[in-house]
Amino acid sequence: RKVVKFCMENKKILELRQEMTLKEKIGQLTQITGEHYVGKIDNEMVETGPGYSQQLLEGDTLYTIGSIIGVSSAKITNLIQSEYLKKSRLKIPLLFMHDAIHGYKTIFPIPLGLSCTWDENILRDVAAYTASELRASGIHVNFSPMVDLVRDSRWGRVMESFGEDHLLSGNLGGAMINGYQKDAEGKISQDGVAACLKHFAAYGAGIGGKDYNTVDMSMREFFDYYGKPYEIALKEKPKFVMSSFNTFNGIPVTASKEMMKDILRDKYQFDDIVISDWGAVSELQNHRVAQDGREAAELALTAGIDIEMVSTLYLENYQQILEKNPALLHEIDAAVLKILQLKNELGMFENPYVDEDLEETVILNQKSLQFAKEAAKKSCVLLKNDSLLPISKEYKKILVVGPFANTQELLGNWQCKGRFDDVVALSEGMRLVDESLELSAYETLEDCPKDELEKCDYIVAAIGEHWELSGEGHSSVNIELDKQQQQLIKDIKKTDKPYACVCFSGRPLALQDIIDDIPALLWCWYPGTQAGIAIAELLTGKDTPSGKLTMSFPRYSSQVPIYYNEYSSGRPANESSYSSRYQDCEVGPLFSFGHGLTYTNTEYSNFKISGHKITEGQDIKISFQVKNPSEYEYSEIAILYIEDLVSKAVRPIREMKKYQVVTVPANQTVTVELVITLDDLHYLNGSLQQSVEPGEFKIYINDLEHSVFTIEH
Ligand code: NOJ
Repeated sequence: RKVVKFCMENKKILELRQEMTLKEKIGQLTQITGEHYVGKIDNEMVETGPGYSQQLLEGDTLYTIGSIIGVSSAKITNLIQSEYLKKSRLKIPLLFMHDAIHGYKTIFPIPLGLSCTWDENILRDVAAYTASELRASGIHVNFSPMVDLVRDSRWGRVMESFGEDHLLSGNLGGAMINGYQKDAEGKISQDGVAACLKHFAAYGAGIGGKDYNTVDMSMREFFDYYGKPYEIALKEKPKFVMSSFNTFNGIPVTASKEMMKDILRDKYQFDDIVISDWGAVSELQNHRVAQDGREAAELALTAGIDIEMVSTLYLENYQQILEKNPALLHEIDAAVLKILQLKNELGMFENPYVDEDLEETVILNQKSLQFAKEAAKKSCVLLKNDSLLPISKEYKKILVVGPFANTQELLGNWQCKGRFDDVVALSEGMRLVDESLELSAYETLEDCPKDELEKCDYIVAAIGEHWELSGEGHSSVNIELDKQQQQLIKDIKKTDKPYACVCFSGRPLALQDIIDDIPALLWCWYPGTQAGIAIAELLTGKDTPSGKLTMSFPRYSSQVPIYYNEYSSGRPANESSYSSRYQDCEVGPLFSFGHGLTYTNTEYSNFKISGHKITEGQDIKISFQVKNPSEYEYSEIAILYIEDLVSKAVRPIREMKKYQVVTVPANQTVTVELVITLDDLHYLNGSLQQSVEPGEFKIYINDLEHSVFTIEH
């Protein structure tokens, strides 16, 4: 099957649409799971939600369907495609869609980990490698990136997010969209896939951190924070947006014209395909805004949901809906056209199949594995280090102990087609990286023979939260390290050996009760296929950690939501009881947004500002030097915050406006320049208008000590 590059002219697409019956059009707006055409196939189908009745899908209806979710591999997608095309009247090929959230078979760190690199190039490349594997496996659309802003670590899906800052989340999401689509001349390239930005909107703000829960927020909060990541990422033109499960200010988003049309389409200018989340059209009945399937379908169609995922209410009810509301036909036609245009852009009418020999060469190849290792290293964050890391060269007998010492289950949730067998465990990584080490690894201290424990020079505690405890539908009330592992750390401490902790987790954990017993802590999130090697290179000092947190770490479970850009309070937090604080907890997070150490002390100096006045067209430049006094080359993340000293509506205490990831070679100094424009100082005023008020702003670089400048405008 040869790859044909040419696509039909739009005129032909319009003609095709004209030939379609109404039922064939609605079929294009319906997405089902893969088993209908060739039966259930083990290991090739990924189910990512509850089952819905798809009884109507018999006979010719089945051959009107537009897309399939959760099936992959060149062989299976080809098989389904050919079965489908044999019986489909107009031979419009099926789109295949999937959830490759942080890789397809080569698994990269979880998105929250990737965000700690702050590096758009890394995120773009992760997406590009993922796209190549997906496309070679017959997939056309990937349900990623997720840019939902998060402030509550109880929510299981924080692992899929880019953390608590809207600007960073939007930029990293945008980079992934670019990486997936790899646009060539405005079209998705032959080894790219269509990106789906999700979940519009504010899904990460469910009350109490509970998944699928109600969201209730002011429009100021939405436009200034929760809506921003979508607004920013949409500029990179993803082909799809997925609507979110949640209710927003009283209306389920799937039925909300205000969210899906007024904001997404009109304000944020998105003009491509909107897909519901899994079963969400049907779930409008559970929300009790629709009394039956017909009403649910009508509400969703009216709100502008083009494709219904998994439930089949559009197909079941379209005749009645259109009888009542014939004007909807216009919207249905527009949605069908967009879907046909996408299939055309992907070259599917010329060649709906995928080359079965290509898959082998693309998947898990050396280049993507090498990149997965680099990404994993850069996503780790060194949270604490009392000079115990890297492991000193004089220590040769190393004991790795804990539930994560030997496990290959280091992919994290949403591991797609990643296999544990392909993962390098931590102990294995240590062996591979330094053959001179005498290494032993056990799940518990009790498993370790006494004399071995006595003789060892250094202990690595491999701890964390099991991967299945985060991800969709996995919110928790308790986000503290479990008691057994806290005990393990205390037992290790009693041995009087030097030790450090390596922690795997899909979310920030609350570590106040144990942190004093941890002298060095490397936070690895879930690093993916190359986990063990990447971490071993950091522990042994072949490389230095350099990631910085994108989500604050609470001290206790009940300190959430916690985030750096809080509004100022009339009674700012301090030690007095009449202040905004908890009486039984220190003020502030245990580790804050932006925190992250390296094996050296990066020095910032020589701050300069080009002027003190910003006006339209007159920006200011802030420059400073970053010195790396070590033998490591690493990426330093320079972060610039502003503080709006007085404003008509309340502003955050600090707000990140610029950041830059700079490579600083060993023993060298580089100059960083960041530009602030008038636009950066805009915010929503008391009447929800974008405005900029004259006044003073303070600038901070990374932490408070660099707060030196004031700007007027
Ligand atoms: C539900 C999730 O919310 C969404 O992120 C995912 O893409 C769909 N299921 C499809 O698996």
